Amino acid sequence: MTFGSGGSSVVGSPLFDFFNDPPALTSAFCLIAYRFCYLSILCVLLGYVQFFDLGLWVPVVSLRLGHIDYLSFYAVPRNFRLLEELERGEKGIGDGTVSYGMDDGDDIYMRSWTGTIIGPHNTVHEGRIYQLKLFCDKDYPEKPPSVRFHSRINMTCVNHETGVVEPKKFGLLANWQREYTMEDILTQLKKEMAVPHNRKLVQPPEGTYF
Ligand SMILES: *[C@@H]1O[C@H](CO)[C@@H](O)[C@H](O)[C@H]1NC(C)=O
Repeated sequence: MTFGSGGSSVVGSPLFDFFNDPPALTSAFCLIAYRFCYLSILCVLLGYVQFFDLGLWVPVVSLRLGHIDYLSFYAVPRNFRLLEELERGEKGIGDGTVSYGMDDGDDIYMRSWTGTIIGPHNTVHEGRIYQLKLFCDKDYPEKPPSVRFHSRINMTCVNHETGVVEPKKFGLLANWQREYTMEDILTQLKKEMAVPHNRKLVQPPEGTYF
């Protein structure tokens, strides 16, 4: 490979050193120029990556920049994911006994959600409508949302005072993986209502709330 006229090699040319060997730059001006160019190139890359919504690349570029905050580390994949879930929730899931939607359409972070589960057949929960609150913090889906029942329920994995679904007693939250969705949580909670140790528990009156 040649550079310019005369057939001189690129290796060893000032341009080559500029990007690959910064300590070789002697003047302060060159060093500043080097840093400036380096950051600009990465910023352009970052914009490029975000433009095409290639979420996977963002953490790599952010790490190299070193000063991009925690939120942008996750922001693109997170918002992408929640928009997908929102769309799916609006279409309606399966037989309609499980559903969810966003609480506040104006929240750009899409944090607060309401879920609904209709109690499964042949259990004390049959026909009851349970409302739940799900909160997807900024580290979702790397971390699970916090989940609590709004409607009162007597169930082993639910705190009797607060309605919080306790991760330690609910496997899906305890062993959370980023592929899991709010739909998975609600579906699994519905199954949990029908397991032998939950299906016959004495329940609080219908229509009461935590
Ligand atoms: C939950 O069910 C158990 C067993 O039926 C009962 O002893 C307990 O009082 C119930 N708890 C609440 C808060 O209703």
